Amino acid sequence: MSEYFPVGRVVDLAPQVNSRSYRLGDMELIVSEILPGAEIPMHSHPELQAGMCLRGSFTFGIEGQGERLLTELQTGYGVTSGVGHWARNEGTEVAIGLDLKRAADAQGPTGSGFLDLVPGRPSKQGMTVSFIVGDWFELMVADLTVGGSMVRHKHRHEQFGVSISGSYSMQIGAEERVFGASDVYYTPPAIEHSAFNDGPEGGLAVVGFVPPRYHRPAVLDAPAATRSGS
Ligand SMILES: [Fe+2]
Ligand SMILES: [Fe+2]
Repeated sequence: MSEYFPVGRVVDLAPQVNSRSYRLGDMELIVSEILPGAEIPMHSHPELQAGMCLRGSFTFGIEGQGERLLTELQTGYGVTSGVGHWARNEGTEVAIGLDLKRAADAQGPTGSGFLDLVPGRPSKQGMTVSFIVGDWFELMVADLTVGGSMVRHKHRHEQFGVSISGSYSMQIGAEERVFGASDVYYTPPAIEHSAFNDGPEGGLAVVGFVPPRYHRPAVLDAPAATRSGS
């Protein structure tokens, strides 16, 4: 089995929710089909969680912050340790959600809140991008056009990708794969990677970075226990 192109394991989060869990180093990525009428009841856990809607829409709630309708590739969220959160699909279409979980011992402040997508500048190599940037994570919606590439590079950030539509060729370390149709990849820190789209269509993916890169992280509501002042 490949560390860079992990295979998901079926997990049972709630009735009418079909989830796959992927191990990404010390993190866990969960991609869930949330059927109409399905509900993931309020729960909390020590791990930090972040996520967004990949397809359709669903309602997401955060204790103390109310609920928001998360729409396709538009709105994200971050939830810190011990803060309750829930989700449900009140619509008539299947929704797909992405959740990223990691241990809370990471450095830096973490908080909870909803985050809106911010458009970015297209790259010279043919990649159109927008971002949801939290305090410990960054989720990039990236469309690699036909003929577009991401030149071979490496960085200290962990990186992962979830394919939304289309496909492209992805190289990580010494491995090379076609990345498409709900595939997931994971690039550990300091491992070289690159991508190239030789067609026939653009490749749309959500690409995550931990910690966030050069974009200014959002300041989210701190948990009550560590909030200073009044
Ligand atoms: Fe959770
Ligand atoms: Fe990268």
